[in-house]
Amino acid sequence: MKLSQRLQTLADLVPRGVYAHIWDCCCDHGFLASVLIATKRAPNVHFIDIVPELIEKITLRQSMTNSAVNWTAQACDITRLRLSDSNASQLIIIAGVGGELTAQFIDAIVVNNPSKDIDFLLCPVRDVYRTRQALINYEFGLLDEQLVTENKRTYEIIYASRQHAIQALSLIGEQLWQPQNSIQLNYLARLIKHLQNAAQTSEEAKKQLALYQQLIK
Ligand SMILES: C[S@@+](CC[C@H](N)C(=O)[O-])C[C@H]1O[C@@H](n2cnc3c(N)ncnc32)[C@H](O)[C@@H]1O
Repeated sequence: MKLSQRLQTLADLVPRGVYAHIWDCCCDHGFLASVLIATKRAPNVHFIDIVPELIEKITLRQSMTNSAVNWTAQACDITRLRLSDSNASQLIIIAGVGGELTAQFIDAIVVNNPSKDIDFLLCPVRDVYRTRQALINYEFGLLDEQLVTENKRTYEIIYASRQHAIQALSLIGEQLWQPQNSIQLNYLARLIKHLQNAAQTSEEAKKQLALYQQLIK
């Protein structure tokens, strides 16, 4: 299965043999999780989406595929997700939804699954600052962060962990901006333009704007 550039970048970041369970939440057609199953990244891979029809289609497709990996497909609201296997290491992937909603999903997953060894691999659409805030609130640190461009749009990918982080997570990203190339500069310019507009009516946007402006060299 050929993935889009964004989903392929996410797939490439998932290590083999580290996680007992990988959860592709908001999986939509489930292409990312299907590739993770085909490339045997973990013994258990789960498709989660709130839309039952999507889950039915995925179940039909996966049932026709021979797989050495255990998989489940559940129509479920992520805010109600209960992770199985409490002591096992788990990777939660949330991609393609807004940064504010991603932050709410992080809240719900962490609160509902308090003793779990959970890492997050995230690719929010806009408002990534809010997503980063939620991760920092729960003391997640950084494993990796990257920018990926698809259809002329640039997205942040954040790979975060509490137990295995290699550095602190920043509200605006750090690794992301080094070295600065045209993709980073264009993305930063768009972020700043958006925040300049928002700052006319929002103190929060003003605060964020000041942080991003520090990145202009
Ligand atoms: C734009 S798609 C993203 C698909 C894929 N992850 C990607 O990045 O291309 C967003 C998906 O999130 C699902 N979704 C939205 N809210 C959800 C929730 N509360 N729980 C589970 N899935 C949800 C939608 O049904 C939809 O399939």
